[in-house]
Amino acid sequence: MPNSPTLCSASHRLPIVIHVTNPHEQDLSVIHNSRRTPMDPSGDLYERDESVLAGPSKMRFYPLAARSGEGPYLMTDDDRRVLDATSGQGAFGLGYGDARLADSARSALMDGGGANVLAMTNSASVEFAQRLLDVIPGDAGRKVYLGLTGSDANTAVIRSARAATQRSKVLSFGHSYHGGIGDSQAASGFNADAGGDMDPRAVVLPYPDLYRPEAVTGDPASTEEELLAEVMRRTEETLASGEIALVLVEPIAHDGGILIPPKHFLRELHRACRRHGTLLCVDEVKVGLGRTGTFPAYTADDYFDHPDHTPDAVTLGKTLGGGLPVSAAIMAPKMADAATGGLLLTMNGYPAGSRTGLDVLRRIDDEGLPERAATQGQLLKDLLLERTAQMLHVGEVRGCGLSIGVELVLDRETKEPATDLAAATVYRAFELGVALNYSGIGGNVLELVPPLTITRADAEFIADTISQALRDAEDGKIDPNNLRRFSGW
Ligand SMILES: Cc1ncc(COP(=O)(O)O)c(C=O)c1O
Repeated sequence: MPNSPTLCSASHRLPIVIHVTNPHEQDLSVIHNSRRTPMDPSGDLYERDESVLAGPSKMRFYPLAARSGEGPYLMTDDDRRVLDATSGQGAFGLGYGDARLADSARSALMDGGGANVLAMTNSASVEFAQRLLDVIPGDAGRKVYLGLTGSDANTAVIRSARAATQRSKVLSFGHSYHGGIGDSQAASGFNADAGGDMDPRAVVLPYPDLYRPEAVTGDPASTEEELLAEVMRRTEETLASGEIALVLVEPIAHDGGILIPPKHFLRELHRACRRHGTLLCVDEVKVGLGRTGTFPAYTADDYFDHPDHTPDAVTLGKTLGGGLPVSAAIMAPKMADAATGGLLLTMNGYPAGSRTGLDVLRRIDDEGLPERAATQGQLLKDLLLERTAQMLHVGEVRGCGLSIGVELVLDRETKEPATDLAAATVYRAFELGVALNYSGIGGNVLELVPPLTITRADAEFIADTISQALRDAEDGKIDPNNLRRFSGW
């Protein structure tokens, strides 16, 4: 797919206003006529969850209890059809219920062709690694770490970078999320936000936020170029210490609020890293595999000077496993064997995961999913702009392919985050049939990452539902008692 400078953008408001009558009368009546109480619209399964499943893995926004799924839709325990615009936190980026992926996993288990790639190898994993090297361009001699989660893929990169450079520090950006455990958590900006014990080897600089450039430059009127120049000045200063092994960056700061960086941010980072002998890893765990409209995501928008200029490492996960835990880190030759034996997980390179991952890559190619994400993403963004054009709490609609954020603010001038409104909107959207999350440091950005396979009708349903949910939230139609049970992030 050719580079497209317009693909990733904060969109300007369109003057069109479309008045939407509630498209969800049926769904609403299902909820209201349900035997469930409003306090517990999802019923028994959710209650059982609350009594047996522990807190560390919970980040709940509403009582979604899934029974089955097909494509982008989930059937809930109380027989409602909900479009999952989170793609199951990205794990089902190709949608639910894909029989072919399930067959691949099953046949790999039945074949019994090996266990992992620790003390043996297997053909599925060798083939999978080769295919990843083919679809992500770069130098000969690169190799692939096969893991289970984005967290361990990024950890593998961090450990390999430290070993390769004999330096210890990792530079990342504000509000970034690179993992929930160990080295990848320690090197995440969100860890600093949460006030956790910071690893002295982690250095965090602000991500260039075009909506609030003053956070970096001190001036809300700063241009894109000025913002980029200031972030790069600080980066250059930090790299000049000679202590930084690795720069770890997201092409879009997703959990930071779907922040799309200034043009050429990655290119400038890459140049700076080369000047100072630092390695660069682009973390595509959330937005990789075509979600932004290009694959790899870093090829969009002229990020690099030349097609041969590639990051030293790229990490993938989530969608890569088609619902199974599969991740990968594609690493430059100098990193690939620098930390041999440095991250041993029993299931590294398990055949069922690799076989399924191969099928995911095949589906992405066969169905032209990056191109489709670009088209459907543009459509969804335009629809959201139309539907929310007159809504005073919508500060910005921005996105890149099917990675879209709607930033809610109390006041468009002050841009104060509308945190409670975002939580109420997300809750109401769930009641109306769309599951989505909010993200951002102020918890005020509606986050849309639906499966790459959504249709035009799905995009219209999402846009209609979100605008209706926002109107209802503004009108105070959501019971605060319902919201109190869900802390979100
Ligand atoms: C950009 C990014 N990197 C890494 C991770 C960690 O992935 P996992 O939860 O699979 O460990 C996430 C998870 O949300 C992510 O968004």
